[in-house]
Amino acid sequence: MLTSTKHVSFATGLHCSNCHREYSLFAINTYAVCCNQPLVIEYDHSHAFSKETLPFRQNNIWRYMEMLPVINSKNIVSLGEGMTPVFSLNKLGNRYGFPGLLMKDESANPTGSFKARGLSVAISKAKELNIKQCIIPTAGNAGGALAAYCAKAGIKCTVVMPTHTPMIFKQECEMYGARLILIDGLINDCAKKVMEINRDNDYFDLSTLKEPYRLEGKKTMGYEIAEQLQWNLPDVIIYPAGGGTGLIGIWKAFLEMISMGWITGPLPRMIAVQSSKCAPILYALKDPHNWKNAFTPAPTIANGLAVPYPFGMNMMLGVLKESGGTAITVSEEQILDGMKEVAKNEGLLISPEGAATWKAFLHLARTKVISSSEKVLLLNTGTGYKYLENCNEKIVIN
Ligand SMILES: Cc1ncc(COP(=O)(O)O)c(C=O)c1O
Ligand SMILES: [Zn+2]
Repeated sequence: MLTSTKHVSFATGLHCSNCHREYSLFAINTYAVCCNQPLVIEYDHSHAFSKETLPFRQNNIWRYMEMLPVINSKNIVSLGEGMTPVFSLNKLGNRYGFPGLLMKDESANPTGSFKARGLSVAISKAKELNIKQCIIPTAGNAGGALAAYCAKAGIKCTVVMPTHTPMIFKQECEMYGARLILIDGLINDCAKKVMEINRDNDYFDLSTLKEPYRLEGKKTMGYEIAEQLQWNLPDVIIYPAGGGTGLIGIWKAFLEMISMGWITGPLPRMIAVQSSKCAPILYALKDPHNWKNAFTPAPTIANGLAVPYPFGMNMMLGVLKESGGTAITVSEEQILDGMKEVAKNEGLLISPEGAATWKAFLHLARTKVISSSEKVLLLNTGTGYKYLENCNEKIVIN
C-alpha cells in the first residue's frame, strides 16, 4: 500500500534500441523515429537500492519502483499486479525426468494475464503525462487489461480486436467501459485500424513496443523470477512470444540486475514458443531480412501468439542470440492437449499460450536440447478460463 507520494524513479533517459539516439524522458514517447525501432528506458544503476529491502515492500510490481519509469508515486495506477506464484510442476516434471520443473503462473494477475503488468506501468505513465484517451490493437488480453487500468485512472479507452476472439475478451472491455471495435483479421489488421482512427494523434497508441512503458512493466517478471528463486536463475526460460515484450523485458531485467550487482551470470537460455499457424520468429531466424514475405499467417487457439509482424522483431532476435536460446513451434492439437494435460495433472487451467510452453519443453527435453540436470521455468502468461470457447471441439477457427 502506498502511503505517501514521492519521486521514486531512477530513470535517466530513453534511447533508440538500434542507434542509441537519445529521446526526452519527460515527453510523451512513442517509438524511435530515427530507425523505426522501439525506444528503451535507461536507469541509473549506480544508485541501486538494496535488494535486502524487498521483503519489506508491497507485494506487487511497484516493489521495484526505482527501476520503473513513473517519476512520482502519486501517479501509480495499480490493481495489485505481479508477485504471481511460481509452482513446481511435480507430477508432470517427475514423469518426464525433470523433478525441478517450474511454472510462473501469470493467471493470478488482474484481468487474468501478464498484460496487467505492462498496462499498469503504461497507464500510470499516461496519467503522469496527462493523457486523456488511449487506444490499442489487441489479440485479446491486452485490450481487457488496458480497459481495466483506464477505468481505474479515469482515462478514455478504445480497444480494437479481431472478431474471432472469444466472447469473454470482448465482454470484459465493455464491462470496463471501453469502446470496442471488432475487425475481421489479425492484430496487424487491428493495428491498421488504430492508425486510421489515430490519424491526428488524438490518442495515446499502446501498440506493442510502439511506446516504451509497457516493456518496463513486463520486465518485472524477470525481477520476480530472480527474487522468488532466491537470486539463482533457471538455466532455461520458455516463453510464448507474440509481440515479444515479455521476452525482451525479462532479459532487460536480468541485464539491469547484473549492473546493480543483484545477480551474476550465467543467464538463462531464452526460448520463444510460437504456434505453427503463425511463427514469424522462426522465419526471421532463418532470414532476418526477408521473413515478412516467407509465410502466410493464420489464427490460432492461442490468440496471443497470432502476431505476424512484430515491431520488436530485431530486439527479440537479439535476446535469443545473446542468451544462446532459440525459437520453436507447436501445433494447435498439441496446444489443446497441453492445456488438458496440465489441468488434469497439476490443477492449473492455463492459457493456450502457456500450454504451448509445456509442449515446447517436452520436445526440447526429448531432443536433448535441454538436459535433465537443468532447471527449467515455463511461463504461463494467462488464465485458460477466458479461452474455453476455443477449446470446444465443435468450434473450428479458420
Ligand atoms: C496469454 C498471452 N500469452 C502470450 C502473449 C504474447 O505476449 P507478447 O506480445 O508480449 O509476446 C499474449 C499476447 O496477447 C497473451 O495474451
Ligand atoms: Zn535510431
